[in-house]
Amino acid sequence: MQTTVWRIDAAEPGWETGAAIREAAALLRRGELVAFPTETVYGLGADATNDAAVARIFAAKGRPADNPLIVHVADKRQLATLVADVPEVARRLIDRFWPGPLTLVLPHRGTVSPRATCGLPTVAVRMPAHPVARALIAAAGVPVAAPSANRSGKPSPTTAEHVLADLAGRIAGVVDGGPTAVGVESTVLDLTTPVPTILRPGGVTREELAAVVGEVSLDPALVREGETPRSPGVKYTHYAPAGEMTLVAGAPEEAARRIQRLADEAARRGERVGILTTEDGRHRYRGPHVVVPCGRRDDLASVAAGLYAALRRFDQEGVTRIYAETFPEVGIGAALMNRLRKAAGGRIVPGDSA
Ligand code: TXA
Ligand code: MG
Repeated sequence: MQTTVWRIDAAEPGWETGAAIREAAALLRRGELVAFPTETVYGLGADATNDAAVARIFAAKGRPADNPLIVHVADKRQLATLVADVPEVARRLIDRFWPGPLTLVLPHRGTVSPRATCGLPTVAVRMPAHPVARALIAAAGVPVAAPSANRSGKPSPTTAEHVLADLAGRIAGVVDGGPTAVGVESTVLDLTTPVPTILRPGGVTREELAAVVGEVSLDPALVREGETPRSPGVKYTHYAPAGEMTLVAGAPEEAARRIQRLADEAARRGERVGILTTEDGRHRYRGPHVVVPCGRRDDLASVAAGLYAALRRFDQEGVTRIYAETFPEVGIGAALMNRLRKAAGGRIVPGDSA
């Protein structure tokens, strides 16, 4: 299959943007797969009401069949066509956070393919903020099921190039709207529990949610090893670069001392070593290692925005072992550390004190 790429300027949409969106929407209506930018990461879209189209998503990604998809809508009213009831708490969250990186899990009303929900009684719904995403969903005229547009297990794509690296030849097209802004996926919030429960931390922080709904709990699987997560996708290895990654905890100077030591040792064993740091931290490292600076430590949103591109850089550089600094788990730092822990398969060691 030839994958069409539509390059558009999302900041200054011209006639070619309208033409691209019409073509892409027509493909979605025909049951084909089209990747598109959202404010979080690129999504791989299919008509959520079409069984065969949804099945194609799982095939193209190599996604486990028991991992349900987020259904994307173009406007707030569309939610009522998907869920049995829109409770008061959902209304308040939507008023505050939609369009945006918040996905709500609610009992569905049987209007999307059971392949999208994996037969669960609930559906995950989100209204993205990206204008291209919204224009495409509106033009398609159907709710759009869209997981992140990566091969299963790989870091989510934050550029169209990442999408093509994983899925060229497997999907009908990709709308290239440039790099995404948030860089980590949406927050998945379960509203079927007495207290709203975060199943996956993401672009909307726990602190922001709590300001609107009061108490917010965390799925126990996010807190303790060995619990079965209620968000099926969370149990799989994710975001993993090819090289084995280890997180090194502690203040930046302590982490850097240990990382330098571990990196030098690994290099002597013949490994090609990658180091994940920040713009303001790269000066701490010496030697032949692949040092990838990602954002600035005083702006965790900038680190989150660059994380997946940084993980893919290590793959491009043929790195076999990666050491990464860690970050405070406040605000967007919670989502950032959640993705880093998964990419590292839970491997974490302390830094070296002076
Ligand atoms: O930012 C995002 O959310 C991106 C963009 C494209 O919108 N999408 C995304 O989709 O990250 P995906 O498929 O990679 O992750 C969806 C997550 C998975 O962890 C899945 O298990 C969970 O949402 N999920 C979907 N439906 C669910 C449901 N009914 N109950 C619980 N969890 C659900
Ligand atoms: Mg994903």
